[in-house]
Amino acid sequence: MAWALTPLTEEQRAIQSTAREFAKRELAPFADEWDENAHFEPAIITKLAELGFLGMMVPEQYDGLGLDTLTYLVALEEIAAVDASTAVLMSVHNSLPTQMLLRWGTEEQKSRFLKPMARGELLGAFALSEPDSGSDAASLRMQATRDGDCWVLNGTKAWVSSGTHAGVVMTMARTDTPEDRKGARGIGAFIITPDLPGYIVGKKEDKMGLRASPTVQLHFENLRVPKQNLLGEPGLGFIYAMQSLDAGRLGIAAQAVGIAQAALSHASKYAAERRQFGKPIKEFQAIQFRLADMAMKVAASRALLRAAATARDRGQQIRQFSAMAKLMASETAMWVTTQAIQIFGGYGYVKEYPVERFFRDAKVTEIYEGTSEIQRIVIARELYSHLGGDR
Ligand code: CAA
Repeated sequence: MAWALTPLTEEQRAIQSTAREFAKRELAPFADEWDENAHFEPAIITKLAELGFLGMMVPEQYDGLGLDTLTYLVALEEIAAVDASTAVLMSVHNSLPTQMLLRWGTEEQKSRFLKPMARGELLGAFALSEPDSGSDAASLRMQATRDGDCWVLNGTKAWVSSGTHAGVVMTMARTDTPEDRKGARGIGAFIITPDLPGYIVGKKEDKMGLRASPTVQLHFENLRVPKQNLLGEPGLGFIYAMQSLDAGRLGIAAQAVGIAQAALSHASKYAAERRQFGKPIKEFQAIQFRLADMAMKVAASRALLRAAATARDRGQQIRQFSAMAKLMASETAMWVTTQAIQIFGGYGYVKEYPVERFFRDAKVTEIYEGTSEIQRIVIARELYSHLGGDR
């Protein structure tokens, strides 16, 4: 049983067990095969939608479940513990494009896009990075040029999760002009749909982990989007994206905690079954100490994550808190999955047990939605901003 700092409410426990049952029934039998074949199963979208899991933090008036951040993350952790690929689909959709529409969308945008997204009829993706701009996100080059009642977008987006099946791609593009560059304040957020002429799905990445989650490049060639599809102010898209990533990073932290918990559970079970030198290996102190450190780190990561989620639910600014939660959880996931493989020995190095997949899936949590280095930059900068000092 997963340890928690604060007991969950009855409703949170009910949603947790719904997510756990769903993962056991709909994901566990297929996760290894999907991983092996890099297969994305589109039926998962419908099944998540039936549970309301694609509109978890969207208020009921916009067809969502109207749950808080903590409850959403508790469910996400359960999904990630079985299939981290499904977890990233859920995380990006719930934390980024839907939250951006909820916060900055007009009523018309909410009824056209947010409602069907919350019902799971349109899957959301998020397009910020480009082939030449990752950590330095504000250096993105995709250009949006105003032309009458439209914006015309040209450029390439990279690392777009769920990009093959997205119905809405929240896309950051430059709204400033080449003659008058405005840096981070010259970027707009656009609601892009795949039916727009000029929308081209590019190469699908052949990844180390999260292989059942399709990650693609998107090319926009003279893609004309009506001006009604601009979110908020034309120069504030980067700020919206950064603010949304504060919540997005909590989703990745929950994914990492789920992966780490799964590795811990599998390793402790295996240590009780596997016998060497005449006894179960769990009776050797080398294994006990390893399992103890794994359990401690998972518990600490979960506690920090849930504290950050609660802070968000109280309306507090969580920029630093979410960076800490993501950094700690993702480094924990990488460390714990490495230890799990060591406990399994040779059996951990082959595909017979899922720890090998957990290890590969854990790695990306240290990379996407901001690398561990970026999280450290955010944490350190906030130290100075809180103290009122210079950055
Ligand atoms: N909330 C609100 N505003 C914020 C903010 C936040 N969290 N972070 C920055 N800003 C504002 C700043 O206050 C500043 O505003 P002013 O113009 O008023 O000064 C503006 O944004 C520019 O900020 P910085 O000067 O701090 O910008 P920077 O260029 O130094 O970059 C950074 C900051 C933290 C390094 C940022 O670029 C960053 O987070 N990089 C990582 C990008 C990232 O996480 N990408 C993930 C892509 S999504 C993905 O992974 C794919 C997927 O589908 C899973």
